[in-house]
Amino acid sequence: MRRSVFGEVLTGEEGEAVRWPEEAAVCEVGPRDGFQMETTWIPTDTKVQIINELGRTGLRWIQATSFVHPRAIPQLRDADEVMARIERVPGVCYTALVPNERGVERAIAARIDAVEMVVSVSDSHCLSNTNMTTEQAMARARACAQLTREAGLRMGIGFPVALGCPFEGIPAYDRVESLMARAVEEFGLEDIGVADTVGMANPALVFTTLSRLLRRFPQAALTLHLHNTRGMGLANALAGLDAGVRRFDGSVAGLGGCPYAPGATGNIATEDLVHMLEEMGVSTGVNLSDLLRVARRTEEMVGHADSALLRAGASHRLGARREAQVERGDC
Ligand code: COA
Ligand code: ZN
Repeated sequence: MRRSVFGEVLTGEEGEAVRWPEEAAVCEVGPRDGFQMETTWIPTDTKVQIINELGRTGLRWIQATSFVHPRAIPQLRDADEVMARIERVPGVCYTALVPNERGVERAIAARIDAVEMVVSVSDSHCLSNTNMTTEQAMARARACAQLTREAGLRMGIGFPVALGCPFEGIPAYDRVESLMARAVEEFGLEDIGVADTVGMANPALVFTTLSRLLRRFPQAALTLHLHNTRGMGLANALAGLDAGVRRFDGSVAGLGGCPYAPGATGNIATEDLVHMLEEMGVSTGVNLSDLLRVARRTEEMVGHADSALLRAGASHRLGARREAQVERGDC
């Protein structure tokens, strides 16, 4: 039997099927996906400070930066310096996004724990993002897989616009599956990211797509990367959880967006995601109070946020406040 933080029974009564897993992993991508969208320069000191604080919240995965061309993402041109200066909290895997072999070489020099190569599912997005077609990017991914294997570096692959492309619409399922098949079966990769880059997905699409992918690739660890552009981010996460996904990306304070999608917002806020999972009795290992403190400081440092929890606070805190009021006889 599982209880929420309020103490009510959620699942697992006698004879009842347990619908939710006991735990799920949350990967913080704010320092990469969030910061890359900021047009005002974030000083390296600030980036290092936020990453260090995130490392002490119980998060096990932090995407700290990307090793891309500084002209493509000027905000992350200090990637090498950030990695040299952050405190490496034991047990935390520090990852970075890479678009090619040059990125892998830089990541190795920076002593990154794992890299994530990106290959957009549609040619249009791939070309605008990395100046390559999807085929060209897959060839690069194969070379990067070889390079990282030789270097003993863990590599994953992320598929932007797998659940919706601003230029080409929703990709055919077969296209997503065949790209993933090559990554898993030919390149030997296990960590696979499925991204709704511009928040076009809906819970039904997420459920059916991820159910099929999980059945097809039982050996892979799938991470769902969701943006909240149209307000369906957490609903999509829940649909993914129902389908069997056990890893989710989030961005502290809900930072982020997409240069190719007008009105795009950031990833689902990590604190909103952690809050939802923990309230459902799904353990994330993240200390929500600590994470909220970092989210608030991030909002102060960057100047904005898009986070329900920063606006409203955790729901169990309201219960606690009410208990205190009752004890004091205030209500
Ligand atoms: N880091 C730093 N410099 C790089 C690099 C990398 N990962 N990859 C290539 N370069 C340099 C090359 O050394 C070369 O330098 P030179 O002109 O001094 O010789 C120059 O960039 C051009 O190389 P080329 O391979 O022709 O790259 P490009 O101009 O076609 O750009 C990418 C391709 C992939 C490097 C660029 O589009 C990019 O970095 N995109 C990432 C975008 C992104 O991060 N999007 C958000 C995340 S999904
Ligand atoms: Zn993203």
